[in-house]
Amino acid sequence: MTDRTSPSGAPWRNFYGRRKGKGLRDSQKTYLDEDLAKLSPGAVDWDVNPDRRPLDLKALFGDRPLWLEIGFGGGEHLVHQAASNPDVGIIGAEPYVNGVAMLLGKIRRAGVENLAIHPGDARDLFDVLPEGSVQRAFLLYPDPWPKARHHRRRFVTPEHLEPLARLMPRGAILRVATDIEDYVRQTLLEVPRAGFEWLAEGPEDWRQPWADWIPTRYEQKALREGRTPHYLTFRRT
Ligand SMILES: C[S@@+](CC[C@H](N)C(=O)[O-])C[C@H]1O[C@@H](n2cnc3c(N)ncnc32)[C@H](O)[C@@H]1O
Repeated sequence: MTDRTSPSGAPWRNFYGRRKGKGLRDSQKTYLDEDLAKLSPGAVDWDVNPDRRPLDLKALFGDRPLWLEIGFGGGEHLVHQAASNPDVGIIGAEPYVNGVAMLLGKIRRAGVENLAIHPGDARDLFDVLPEGSVQRAFLLYPDPWPKARHHRRRFVTPEHLEPLARLMPRGAILRVATDIEDYVRQTLLEVPRAGFEWLAEGPEDWRQPWADWIPTRYEQKALREGRTPHYLTFRRT
């Protein structure tokens, strides 16, 4: 529902995930205090940007193409992509503060500087990114919401996919990884509806990880528990 608003003017957006988990280590609190503000992509939240002015991407990353990772978890894939692609600027969105703190530790160790972090809901970031500005987006092991009555909470619903599609120019790439077969079904239904085509090179294509892939924490857990990763690549039409 987007017709209800909060005092800041923000539309009502249901968020069912976790924002906090177990206590943070002292080092992680230090990373959050010292590093997070410096890695901000600009004014994203409604209280600081009620008019939803677009972010100044030129000031952020110069002329580098922009990539986006939605729900980066512990940030291993995000840091890996930033380190392997210094000519790209990447923004990661993740509302789970423990994950953000883990990412900050990894950024310190890797020394990458082509990264920005929105420590919140990706939809708030979508509002303030210019149309057609995102060349590549990663949606890696989104929350599965296995119960049928919760499928509408999944990221692969029009509420999330339509604003994402608006940000992506024709030819831009969206990668989705999931270990849940019913999530594959919903992805293959909803993502093309939002204006993407699935780039499958054969019936077994989904089994093949991307050449530049590293397994995320969630993928490692899925493999330990005997589930099969699916790798889906889409192109904006
Ligand atoms: C199952 S975890 C996977 C994390 C990581 N991508 C991995 O593969 O290890 C899904 C993540 O998506 C995040 N998430 C859920 N809804 C989100 C939203 N609206 N915007 C950004 N991140 C979101 C959750 O906080 C969670 O960390």
